[in-house]
Amino acid sequence: MTAIGQDIAKAASLLRKGALVAIPTETVYGLAANGLDEQAAAGIFAAKERPRFDPLILHVATKKQAKKYVSEWPDWAEKLATAFWPGPLTLLLPKKPKVPDLITSGLPRVALRVPRHSITLALLQQLDFPLAAPSANPFGYMSPTKAVHVKAQLEGKVAYILEGDAAEVGVESTIVGEENGKICVYRLGGLAVETLEEILGPVEVKPHSASDPSAPGMLKSHYAPLKPIRLGSIEKLLKEYPNEVPGVLSFSKSYNLQQGKNLVLSPEESLQEAAAHLFSYMRQLDDDPTITCILAEKVPNVGIGRAINDRLQRATVKREASNES
Ligand code: TXA
Ligand code: MG
Repeated sequence: MTAIGQDIAKAASLLRKGALVAIPTETVYGLAANGLDEQAAAGIFAAKERPRFDPLILHVATKKQAKKYVSEWPDWAEKLATAFWPGPLTLLLPKKPKVPDLITSGLPRVALRVPRHSITLALLQQLDFPLAAPSANPFGYMSPTKAVHVKAQLEGKVAYILEGDAAEVGVESTIVGEENGKICVYRLGGLAVETLEEILGPVEVKPHSASDPSAPGMLKSHYAPLKPIRLGSIEKLLKEYPNEVPGVLSFSKSYNLQQGKNLVLSPEESLQEAAAHLFSYMRQLDDDPTITCILAEKVPNVGIGRAINDRLQRATVKREASNES
């Protein structure tokens, strides 16, 4: 049985021994190991059944620590780190040789982030190494926003689950790097593009590559429930699939259903609230044995809404059609 608790010293001691520990962050829960120890980090890939071409983010307690792992710290990185760390922002920067190739999947840059969560920051402050941590879900499945989600999926594969509240942001960090002199957003996430642009001016949002695994972040199929999920106008989808028992995931409206279940992401139309509920509501519908498919609608495509729509879109792509292994 994997224990859940708030014992930071126990988590630190397990991590020092090379074990895997799940950690709370403001975005989603992470599955952490010593990021300088290849063997410990290899355990992450095994537990998640994650292909080794998908690199890991290093989590540190401060900007100063982040600088220890990069060979360049450009002005834009200084500005963003000062404005948004701790927070849902990951910076991609040229790595120093001491960062193991397993962490970056052999790529020249390393991903770094200071998470905004008091328990995890306290843990990081006790360690003299960074924590490599992908989202704590089996590869391709939805990210966990509660400790119980981690337990349900990684029981026995993780030594300890450090418990915090439900993740406050609910979608993963925004990943930012520089390419040919331009600042690029490689993954839409918890920090809105508009908020980044207030600091940096216009940035480029790179359409995520469907098939090039060396491109940061994103495979076409990801964040997916096990049940079929369809995205569109709920009214149209209900007519199109009359024989399904639907699990409806709507933004703010409630639908009168003859059968099935409707979960509303934010009756008040708050995109923040919708993001915080997204993965746990998708899970609830996925886990409900009476429901045969999930019908979802997009949310307004602004701010964190862009990250929500990105996750919904990726969730609808069939696993077989993707390049997941
Ligand atoms: O909010 C988050 O970022 C969460 C929490 C736990 O911090 N972590 C997370 O990690 O979402 P993960 O592994 O599920 O997604 C990180 C993405 C990967 O898909 C990977 O492709 C990209 O970041 N990435 C990491 N290191 C990279 C690198 N060196 N070069 C390019 N892309 C990288
Ligand atoms: Mg992930």
